[in-house]
Amino acid sequence: MSRLADQHFIVGITGGIAAYKSAELVRRLCKQGAQVQVIMTQAAKAFIAPLTLQALSGRPVRDTLLDPEAESGMGHIELGRWADTIVVAPASADFIARLAAGLASDLLSTVCLATSAPVILAPAMNQAMWQKPTTQRNLATLRADGITLLGPADGPQACGDTGPGRMLEPDELIECLTNSQNPGPLENIRVMVTAGPTWEALDPVRGLSNHSSGKMGYAVANAAKLAGASVSLISGPVTITPPTGVELKNVTTAKEMLGAVESSVSGFDIFIGVAAVVDYRPAQVAPTKMKKATQTLTVEFVRNPDILSTVTQQPDPPFTVGFAAETDQPLEHARQKLKNKRLDLIAVNQVGGDDNPFGSDHNTLTLISQHDQVELGRDSKAELARRLVEEIAGRYHAKNPA
Ligand code: C5P
Repeated sequence: MSRLADQHFIVGITGGIAAYKSAELVRRLCKQGAQVQVIMTQAAKAFIAPLTLQALSGRPVRDTLLDPEAESGMGHIELGRWADTIVVAPASADFIARLAAGLASDLLSTVCLATSAPVILAPAMNQAMWQKPTTQRNLATLRADGITLLGPADGPQACGDTGPGRMLEPDELIECLTNSQNPGPLENIRVMVTAGPTWEALDPVRGLSNHSSGKMGYAVANAAKLAGASVSLISGPVTITPPTGVELKNVTTAKEMLGAVESSVSGFDIFIGVAAVVDYRPAQVAPTKMKKATQTLTVEFVRNPDILSTVTQQPDPPFTVGFAAETDQPLEHARQKLKNKRLDLIAVNQVGGDDNPFGSDHNTLTLISQHDQVELGRDSKAELARRLVEEIAGRYHAKNPA
């Protein structure tokens, strides 16, 4: 997966002929899965139409600082917070001077001032303007302030001059931007996640299942992807939207889930079993709808295979993480599962009372390994998933030093 995927970029465009190249930069960022918000200066709009950038980025272009309507949505401070990276391409001599002086005279300069995200400039200007001591002084100030400069390149210019001041080409900028992103802790690691409930049919219309919404498992798959892993998500029946950028396989029963896991788990480094697998299935599945002919009904159930145990019994098992949802003595039961299923780590949540995790966007997790216990506390499932994946990555690398 691209390191740019799901990253939030603000692409700033200032007034210069190289602005036409920014359309291609925006297109390529979006193609790599990045989310792009374009901010244009007034001068930029003389070179390229905002509508082009809106169509390519899928977001209306922002160009005004004192716009009550836009500010009531994502205001200039929120824009600065939203951005993971701000890249200004082309960055004109005027914009560089305003940034070096700390001016907040339009939306782009204000957002650059307000943000704590890295700011990257791709300067573009006439070679004489580039070489002027004033411009060089401003650039030295910006470098000293931690702003990154990409380019410019040397060569023929639109004005007929030859020299330094050409904006880098979009593919060169993309390469630099990719290299500037820290590789996630799970880069080049393959992670398989099971999620959701399973459904064990009794007849064509009835069956046994549980309240699992799949939210925790989907959040874990997404967090692993954001950490750089390539992720396979094997999901029981749920109604939520799967995360983008993960390979999804839908299954219904525990046996199908086991089949999907067994057929490819040998290629994976980490396995995280978040699915609430139904432990028993009806011994017989009636081919047609069962009629209510008797006062009582006895159904025989048989044990479903334990997917986690099957994974840890592989000859070279992946780093394996289980989940435990318990109504009583959760930590004791989880420790037993950690041992019986030969897991590297287990995430425990208590079911019942005010803290029922089923269907909720929040959860409370405790992590238990053979050696330690870590309280992740109560938080959103997205944040808990992020911290769980961070813990898993650290422990995986400690167990498998490079
Ligand atoms: O044994 P118990 O169902 O409480 O264990 C929960 C953990 O085991 C979860 O990680 C769940 O995904 C996994 N599990 C499994 N196969 C089963 C039952 C549970 O992999 N048949």
